[in-house]
Formats: sequence, structure tokens, C-alpha cells
Amino acid sequence: MPDIVITEFMDASSVERLTSRFDTLYDPGLVDRPEAIPALLTDARALVVRNRTRVTDAVLAAAPGLRIVGRLGVGLDNIDVAAARNRGVPVVPATGANDDSVAEYVIAMTLHLLRGAYTASAEVAAGKWPRTRLIGREVSGKTLGLVGFGAIARKTAVLARALGMTVAAFDPYVPADDSVWQSGAVRHSTIDGLLGASDVVSLHVPLTDGTHHLINAAALAAMRSDAVLINAARGGAVDEPALANALKERRLAGAALDVFEVEPLTAAAGAVFDGCPNLVLTPHIAGVTDESNSRVGAVIADAVLAALQEKRT
Ligand SMILES: NC(=O)c1ccc[n+]([C@@H]2O[C@H](COP(=O)([O-])OP(=O)(O)OC[C@H]3O[C@@H](n4cnc5c(N)ncnc54)[C@H](O)[C@@H]3O)[C@@H](O)[C@H]2O)c1
Repeated sequence: MPDIVITEFMDASSVERLTSRFDTLYDPGLVDRPEAIPALLTDARALVVRNRTRVTDAVLAAAPGLRIVGRLGVGLDNIDVAAARNRGVPVVPATGANDDSVAEYVIAMTLHLLRGAYTASAEVAAGKWPRTRLIGREVSGKTLGLVGFGAIARKTAVLARALGMTVAAFDPYVPADDSVWQSGAVRHSTIDGLLGASDVVSLHVPLTDGTHHLINAAALAAMRSDAVLINAARGGAVDEPALANALKERRLAGAALDVFEVEPLTAAAGAVFDGCPNLVLTPHIAGVTDESNSRVGAVIADAVLAALQEKRT
């Protein structure tokens, strides 16, 4: 039975670092066969997952020798962190390793949603010339409103400023005297204040009881009808039917969603978005690039090797 079990995809060089030192089972298909996982953990000292493997107390109970759960990413919604703590098993995320990827995604979606000129390839190739319809907006001079002003939001703010955007943020947990506000971000003390002042609203909060459906019908009503919404944080933060209605009724000018209440999004759950104008859907990929994949893998491989090489007292 393996020392290390990896249930979702990990970059090749990090997998190689682990397999060369320890008996390692790398099976990225295991995430879709969760019933097979507990039996593989009998001797495991490290379990490495991404965001879809559910690490429940029952899974942890199947791995009495576990020394670490490595998370190839940052959000910990799929891991019962309290159960791991009770069992003395540290949960280690790859904090910071994919911040740049997400920040670039948000900027790309900002440019795409406001400009609207990048979707006409088929028409242009077919000899049509839809110039008038494709006249869009610049991002320079617009306001980017960040809901949550943590690590990724701050990286996004730097890129947005370079494009001439004004940056504003709502994060009640970052006090008004925190030096981060000296970067020039306008601090809003209410979310409605931020929503009403922003051309682009981008979410950067964890999923908690306090952020579940943070963007609901009332919040969407507080946004301007020419504004756009980007969610590359967690799906549950947006009420999807309310967003779809706002788009269809042109009470909002566009949206990009990388994350969903149900992941992977099913055809049934995705049907709510049928007919929504100026909507981009991506499969929870904002944080995953070649570069971030290598960084995330390296951080978790380092943590796993350190945990397994550590002498136990
Ligand atoms: N789509 C992807 O591929 C991807 C990749 C990485 C991270 N993420 C997600 O992005 C989000 C942000 O990640 P991060 O690393 O910047 O996290 P972070 O912990 O650095 O920042 C989160 C911020 O949200 C704030 N916050 C919490 N509750 C709030 C509320 N009710 N209203 C306003 N602010 C609130 C916190 O104070 C904190 O400053 C997380 O949900 C994470 O899971 C997604």
C-alpha cells in the first residue's frame, strides 16, 4: 500500500519528485471514483488532493498513519479541516502559488466583457463586417470594485491600476488603518456602496456562511446596469438564477463565472444560463496555468517531503 496517494492531477515534475523517494500512487482519475479512495489509504502518510476530492472524517479515519493532507490550490471547502485538526493531521494549501493566474484571468475578463469585440471571428471570416455592433468600452478610467481585499484581489488591483483603472474594495476584515489602503484603493464600508460605484465587480472572498449568495437579487439590483460581474472565487457566493435573470433582463451588462454552486457544472444546472448575453463560463480554471501548476505542485511536494522525512517523537 502506498505512502503517498494523489487523487487529482499534479504536474509531472512534482509527481516525479515524490515517486522517486516514496511509494506513490498517482491516479488523477481517483477523484471520480471516491469509493475506491479509503481502501488505498491504509498505509498512507500523505494524501494529495485538488478541489474536488472530498476529504471527510470517514476518509481521514481510513488513513490512521496520515501526516499531511496537501491541497493543490487554496480553497479548503472540500476538506473537513476541523476533522483533520481533531486527528492531528495538518492540511497544507499552496497559498499564493496561483494568485497571478487568477489576477490575470480577472483582467482578461474585464477587458473582454467591456470591449465585447473578440467574439466575431466566424462572422468576420464569413465576409460580414459587424463594426458598429462591436464598438465597446475601454477599461482605462473605469472603476474595478473588489469584494474581498485579500491576496488575489491585491494582485488584481496592481494590474488594474497599470491599465488606468480606479480600484475600490469592500472588505470589513481589513481595518481602515491597514497600510494596504495606502496603495490608493478606495475603501468602501458597505458592499452596496461598492456595488453602486463600480463598472466591474470582481469577487475575491472565501465561501462561508457570511458570503453564501453574497451576490443575490438585491446585490445585483445595487449594481449599475452597464456594470459587469466576475466571479473567480467560489460558486456559492453568487445566486446563479438571480444573475441569469439580471443578464437576460439587461439589468447587468455582462458576467464571467469560473466557479459554480455545482462543480463540475452539469448540463441541468448550466441550463439556467441559456440565452444570457455577454456571459463567459469557464471550468474553474482561473488559477490553473502551466506556470501556476508547477508552482502549486512544487509547494505541495516540498510540504509532503518535509512531513514524511520528519522524525516522529
Ligand atoms: N478560480 C480559481 O481557480 C481560484 C484560485 C485560487 C483562489 N480562488 C478563490 O479566490 C478567493 C480569494 O482567495 P485569496 O487567496 O485572495 O484569499 P484571501 O484569504 O487572501 O482573501 C480573502 C479576503 O476575503 C475577505 N472576506 C471574507 N469574508 C468577507 C465578506 N463577507 N465580505 C468581504 N470580504 C470578505 C477576507 O477578509 C480576506 O481579506 C477564495 O475563495 C479562493 O478559494 C479561486
